[in-house]
Amino acid sequence: MSKPRFDVITIFPDYLAPLSLSLVGKAQENELIDINVHDLRDFATGVHKSVDDTPYGGGAGMVMAPEPWASAIDSVAEKVDQPHELIILTPAGKKFDQATAYELASKEHLIFACGRYEGIDFRVTEHYRTQSTFTVREISIGDYVLNGGEVAALVILEAIIRLIPGVIGNPASLEEESHSIRNGSDQQLVEYPSYTKPQEWRGLEVPAVLLSGNHGEIARWRTQQSEIRTKKLQE
Ligand code: ADE
Repeated sequence: MSKPRFDVITIFPDYLAPLSLSLVGKAQENELIDINVHDLRDFATGVHKSVDDTPYGGGAGMVMAPEPWASAIDSVAEKVDQPHELIILTPAGKKFDQATAYELASKEHLIFACGRYEGIDFRVTEHYRTQSTFTVREISIGDYVLNGGEVAALVILEAIIRLIPGVIGNPASLEEESHSIRNGSDQQLVEYPSYTKPQEWRGLEVPAVLLSGNHGEIARWRTQQSEIRTKKLQE
């Protein structure tokens, strides 16, 4: 597999600056991934380089026009001779989760369309759904409304990129974290609580089982704690 490529299209490229930091920044430096951020306005025509207009049918706010989006998407798709996953960020999309992160981490080319205002003209979704080289997903990161898709793209990119082989030094750490842990009944669990030195802190002791050296006991205790935490979240 060649290195995965991520293209982000936005009217606020600076919003994506954190991608040069930390593990994601290092993954780019080490050429494990290729991230490119594009300004939608570079694909707008007309003197005002306008990217939005009033909604048909009336209502508040503005809708992003289809043509600048199609020009931008076509331009990045041309650069990659692989199927494209077009991810349209919207609170009306399917809720993002760890299973989707794993699925997307195996793809060669992801294009993130960060809408603003009242979203992108729906014909962009419809058009690319008819294109055989594209898979289109509308994704939400949660049941709340952001000002635009940029922060959602950052969240999704971070969740995906850390799963790409070589990005995290110790891949075993991926197996023991929230949403990857399962119990004997194959139930998806959140992570158990973690402790480090000192053994006693502000009158609080580290659970004795963790000091026992009994790996079987420790594994059982951790699964139990994961189950308790997961159950509490469902209350
Ligand atoms: N754009 C605005 N709100 C969003 C959300 N919750 N998820 C993804 N994109 C968004």
